[in-house]
Amino acid sequence: MNDRINQLTAEVASFTTDNPAKLEEFRISLFGKKGSITLLFEEFKNIPPQEKRLFGQPLNVLKNNALEKIKALSDTLQKTHTVDAGIDYSLPGSPLISGTRHPVSMVKNQICEIFKRLGFVISTGPEIEDDWHVFSALNFPPEHPARDMQDTFFLNQNPDILLRTHTSSVQVRVMEHQKPPIRTISPGRVFRNEAISARSHCIFHQVEGLYIDKNVSFADLRQTLFFFAQEMFGRDTKIRLRPSYFPFTEPSAEMDVSCSLCGGKGCTLCKHTGWLEILGCGMVDPNVLDSVGINSQEYTGFAFGMGIERIALLKYGIRDIRLLFENDVRFLKQFEPTV
Ligand code: DAH
Repeated sequence: MNDRINQLTAEVASFTTDNPAKLEEFRISLFGKKGSITLLFEEFKNIPPQEKRLFGQPLNVLKNNALEKIKALSDTLQKTHTVDAGIDYSLPGSPLISGTRHPVSMVKNQICEIFKRLGFVISTGPEIEDDWHVFSALNFPPEHPARDMQDTFFLNQNPDILLRTHTSSVQVRVMEHQKPPIRTISPGRVFRNEAISARSHCIFHQVEGLYIDKNVSFADLRQTLFFFAQEMFGRDTKIRLRPSYFPFTEPSAEMDVSCSLCGGKGCTLCKHTGWLEILGCGMVDPNVLDSVGINSQEYTGFAFGMGIERIALLKYGIRDIRLLFENDVRFLKQFEPTV
């Protein structure tokens, strides 16, 4: 008996586990109905009284050691394991990586907010368009280069179904369904069949603006855009309008803002001109009003359109447009959400 007590004492001393099921197995192997310690106690009952003193004490020590060991192991396991599902809930969780608002969305929201304050409402239209809304209604002559396969993505070789090349298509849709006065801005994604480089991408975003009412003048256009430029780039921003050409506006202009980096003194961002080109604009061509059933004798209006990526690049001093499309969180995390 002594030998078995000694052997079990050694086994108890060396036993260890981090598995709750193994610990329970160990407990049963000692104290279960047929457990080794239970059996030793059974045997002990039958030992002649004069020998009891010899085995009683070591047997009790063994029992107490074993109970203590089981309790200690069970306590540590309870701290680190739940016994039921075999899942360790105490392990550190996987970190939740929260995203951040994309700079393009931030700039888009900011542009929309500024025009909303002037009473413009947001309108949207489909990305897959027809020739009418992207070109014909906007006074593009049939031979205009923008209609070319080189610039436009046509769907299924169908010259009438295409990905919109600008959000000016939305102004046509709005004018078809709404009577003046109209004051709307249309943010959205546009597509052009262009090689991807640091300066241009085949997918980008624009915001289109349209204002139609009686007696809308070029002075209204200028003042509206001046307000926008100062809100967007700061109070000291100056603007200049340069004559240009778009089929859907007459007269047409391109607007520059004084360089936000050097304040107009000249730097690499503005290529030492002091000015940054940010949008195209003009008075809506009477042909466009007539094509959507608005009386051009009664109403006039202005329109403008700008690229959101371009403004984001200028605002944040980003040198490569491709960074805006790669969704690298290390890049995106640098832009604190403001809107
Ligand atoms: N749609 C033009 C473009 O994609 C931008 C534009 C220029 C829009 C002049 C206008 C405008 O409404 O009046 O380049």
